[in-house]
Amino acid sequence: MSTQPGDPDIATPASLFDLSGRVAVVTGASSGLGLGFARALAGAGATVYAAARRVDRLTELARTDSRIVPVPCDVTRDADRTALVDRCYAESGRLDVLVNNAGRPGPPQAEQETDAEFHAILELNLLAGFHLATYAASRLPEGAHASYINISSVIGLVSTAPIGGASYAASKAGTLGLTRELAGQWGRRGIRVNAVVPGWFDTEMTDGLFGNEKSAGWVRRNTMLGRGGRTGEVDGAVLFLASDASSYMTGQTLVVDGGWTAR
Ligand SMILES: NC(=O)c1ccc[n+]([C@@H]2O[C@H](COP(=O)([O-])OP(=O)(O)OC[C@H]3O[C@@H](n4cnc5c(N)ncnc54)[C@H](OP(=O)(O)O)[C@@H]3O)[C@@H](O)[C@H]2O)c1
Repeated sequence: MSTQPGDPDIATPASLFDLSGRVAVVTGASSGLGLGFARALAGAGATVYAAARRVDRLTELARTDSRIVPVPCDVTRDADRTALVDRCYAESGRLDVLVNNAGRPGPPQAEQETDAEFHAILELNLLAGFHLATYAASRLPEGAHASYINISSVIGLVSTAPIGGASYAASKAGTLGLTRELAGQWGRRGIRVNAVVPGWFDTEMTDGLFGNEKSAGWVRRNTMLGRGGRTGEVDGAVLFLASDASSYMTGQTLVVDGGWTAR
């Protein structure tokens, strides 16, 4: 069946990205990229449950938009994850978008990394998102649609030697495999699962990198656009994947890296 000009079912650019009436969770929303994601999704009309451990930061964020709900949550704790998803259903009756963004790097040198540290990074960067997604999927009513977005990293795609980190690379590469696998398992249930791969962005996590002229210069030299990313420059990719604009996309990886991996 072909569509005709004037067909009322043809989406407009604005309606494609409109999240009015939808409910989203963003983890790691107290700073950096996650804070931007929460604001962008709320700006598109969604009610956003902004989750992290630093509640003061979340409360400040919620003051900027009444659609943002601060939720104290350590995503490595099972009870916190369950409470987060349950709260969405109790207060808003649905959960349409899950952005697994909370994360941190491990030690840069493999020899410095203990088993305990390695496990802790996998627990936060990979397993927490897996458990949140499986619990959210278990609560999704039959016939409902959802979009889950996992934040990976260029370090999950390529080596960034001399900067890197074994557990971090493993967790971020694992996130991409997990994304494809969950997309395959859940596609017919109406759950889309995609990943976003940011390049280098100046956030708390990368303070040391951008605060040092030598390493900041290394980022500029090796990025096609000649600069690091600005916080906010990943928001469009997340909004796209969260919304109906990407309704036929699943199991994919969107790279937002200024050309870092295209060299
Ligand atoms: N910046 C980059 O260049 C870059 C590049 C590629 C990928 N990424 C990825 O992007 C994501 C966000 O990083 P960012 O750069 O925005 O760093 P950031 O500013 O340090 O933010 C990290 C966020 O994760 C939260 N978090 C950490 N541990 C948590 C826990 N146990 N439970 C709940 N929340 C937790 C932090 O909140 P609390 O401390 O308040 O809990 C914070 O909101 C991470 O997954 C990172 O790996 C970043």
